Amino acid sequence: AIADMKGLKQGQLRLSAVSTTKYFLPRIIGPFCQKYPGVELSMRFTNHERILQYLNENQDDVYILSQLPSTMDVNAHRILENPLVPIAPADHPLASESQIPFTRFAEEAFIMREPGSGTRQALEELFYKHESELNVRMELGSNEAIKQAILGGLGVSVLSQHTLTLEKDTGLFAILDVEDLPIYRNWYAIYPVGKQPSVVARTFLDYLEADPELTRNNRQLTMEN
Ligand code: PGA
Repeated sequence: AIADMKGLKQGQLRLSAVSTTKYFLPRIIGPFCQKYPGVELSMRFTNHERILQYLNENQDDVYILSQLPSTMDVNAHRILENPLVPIAPADHPLASESQIPFTRFAEEAFIMREPGSGTRQALEELFYKHESELNVRMELGSNEAIKQAILGGLGVSVLSQHTLTLEKDTGLFAILDVEDLPIYRNWYAIYPVGKQPSVVARTFLDYLEADPELTRNNRQLTMEN
């Protein structure tokens, strides 16, 4: 009733999300905060393993990740596709090639995320499936640092396509055309099955589900697939 009226929702909302969501979540949350100025929002970004830890410790209201937890029943709202793409500097020799065999790609030096990263885990699983050895040149704990290292010519990587959102038209990076890539994944907003979400958390989940940008992007990415 009255608490549902625009602007009257009040209270805290604590979110924790995997690092790849940095590239869209704060932006789409802008209009939510404008609509509900009484909501006090705190958001933190870290890797997959830490998000699971926060979930287990019941630290936050809503968690956003791409790999659903195996140890806890959760309610999951699918929000957006998160393809992991092979990235190289634009002047890389493979940038102009098409249908690169996986074995050829695997010869490259790789810049890896830290242990605990969901991105890293997905890449390791792909190499395991291909029975290929990862040639790790360097390990870096941030997507942004990896992008800089790629530009520095240190190697290639596989990262969320969303990490390149702002660089799309700069011509700095190439997304390689490699067999069995991208790795297609989704982000999910989740909370434990046994936990009743607060009114504010419920409102936020509804907002995510209704957001036209999320829906539109989903459709675009599906068509490219
Ligand atoms: P992470 O997140 O690599 O920062 O853990 C990526 C993911 O799981 O989508």
